[in-house]
Amino acid sequence: MEATTFVLFGATGDLAKRKIYPALYNLFLDGKLPQEFRVIGLGRRPFSDETFQASVEHAVHTFSRRKAEETAEFKQFVQSFSYCPLNIDNSDDYKKLLQLVQQYEAGMSGTPNRMFYLSVGPEFFATIADNIKASGLGDTKGWKRLVIEKPFGHDLPSAQQLNAKLSKSFSEDEIYRIDHYLGKPMIQKLEILQQSNPVLQALWSNRYISNVQISASETVGVEERAGYYDHVGAIRDMFQNHMLQMLMMLTLHLPENSTPEVVRFKKKTILEALEPLHRDNIAAHVVRGQYTAGSIAGKEVASYTNEPGISSDSMNDTYVAAKLEIDDPFWRGVPFYIRTGKRMKEKYTRIIVEFKEAFKQTTKATDSNQIANLLIFEISPNEGITFQLNSRDPQNKDQFKPIYIDFHSNGAEAPEAYESLIHDALNGDPTFFAHWDEVELSWKWVQPILNAFADNSIPLHYYPAGSNGPAAADELLAKNGHHWWLDS
Ligand code: BG6
Repeated sequence: MEATTFVLFGATGDLAKRKIYPALYNLFLDGKLPQEFRVIGLGRRPFSDETFQASVEHAVHTFSRRKAEETAEFKQFVQSFSYCPLNIDNSDDYKKLLQLVQQYEAGMSGTPNRMFYLSVGPEFFATIADNIKASGLGDTKGWKRLVIEKPFGHDLPSAQQLNAKLSKSFSEDEIYRIDHYLGKPMIQKLEILQQSNPVLQALWSNRYISNVQISASETVGVEERAGYYDHVGAIRDMFQNHMLQMLMMLTLHLPENSTPEVVRFKKKTILEALEPLHRDNIAAHVVRGQYTAGSIAGKEVASYTNEPGISSDSMNDTYVAAKLEIDDPFWRGVPFYIRTGKRMKEKYTRIIVEFKEAFKQTTKATDSNQIANLLIFEISPNEGITFQLNSRDPQNKDQFKPIYIDFHSNGAEAPEAYESLIHDALNGDPTFFAHWDEVELSWKWVQPILNAFADNSIPLHYYPAGSNGPAAADELLAKNGHHWWLDS
């Protein structure tokens, strides 16, 4: 990899400390950073390089999955960080930054590249991109790239405006939009699993699949993010991005040797084939929920409206479940049930594929739970794949008995999402980043739901903290004779 300067806006923030510095450290350990690599951290406060380096060191010690030893190598890693105070609105500060970048580039070989990582609120994205262009920071000898994180807008019009602004300074292929779910190792495996195993490839359609359930369940509540979350809700915070990305990654049918462009094109066609929702059918497809007081793992927790910073009459969604349909030849007729919620019973992200009942007419089994053929992908916190197959009960030969084929690995040992995403961005591989087309189509699909929530045209269902969500979400599946699997 060629010489690169990694310009980090928001260098003193929480995301940088918890995710970005540990990710860079682990990439460094694995020899995956460019030989000539300089990080310039930017923030409002007037730190010296030494103070900044000490905070990077502390962040790595606290949050890295692999512990840092006080070696000469570690010192070398920490010394590749410099600090530059910058006020996001001040164009002179960008000129000073340019001088600093040029000073480091003068000591680098080849045609040095610049990666601009915006670890700041989305309200600053456009101003920063404008200033990068106006100051000359965008005129690089090598490549330039912009890395940003969700949220990309608040709804369809604001996302379109934001994209139009960013496009003035960066082209689409220079923009890397992080959705950290796309960095989860099991999500990255879905494509390969399906593509390189005929046993899965053959089954991957409405011919054999009855329904698919995608769940992201969290035990945490609104935490310290009341100001953000109360305006966003589960629909914008999780559904429009992470949940729809998982849906796309699961349902892709890729040709052999697909390029990143093909992957993104196929993802786009999935969203284009999603049956649109409209005012009259939303209530039958979407369940909106909010947690009330309850208990999680023996600990009493407050209701959403009693959380600090949340108004007592908030109608915000902390839970969303929806039934989606993909109108294409592979998936027509297969319901995709997607749900996500805060303050649920357990923390997990999981995809369950339920196959059709092969022997429905002939089986003597009395318990329909026992004849489900399931493929379960555990996404996080642990990774796993379980195949639940029907077999005969040796004690009672009239009956089926499930057997399980299991793979599990400890999620803590796998590279973190940010490691592989930063590595891909440095390498110019956009496969696991959200293309603007996906972002725009996701907002388009979600927009009627946002409207229905805003004008309260569908009910808000309450669920006690520590439960599996509102009963209405069970009814959503029951209408088709399905039920959520593995809810304990
Ligand atoms: C973030 C959301 O994008 O994802 C958070 O803003 C949520 O509200 C988090 O808690 C969940 O991520 P993970 O990786 O813990 O499932």
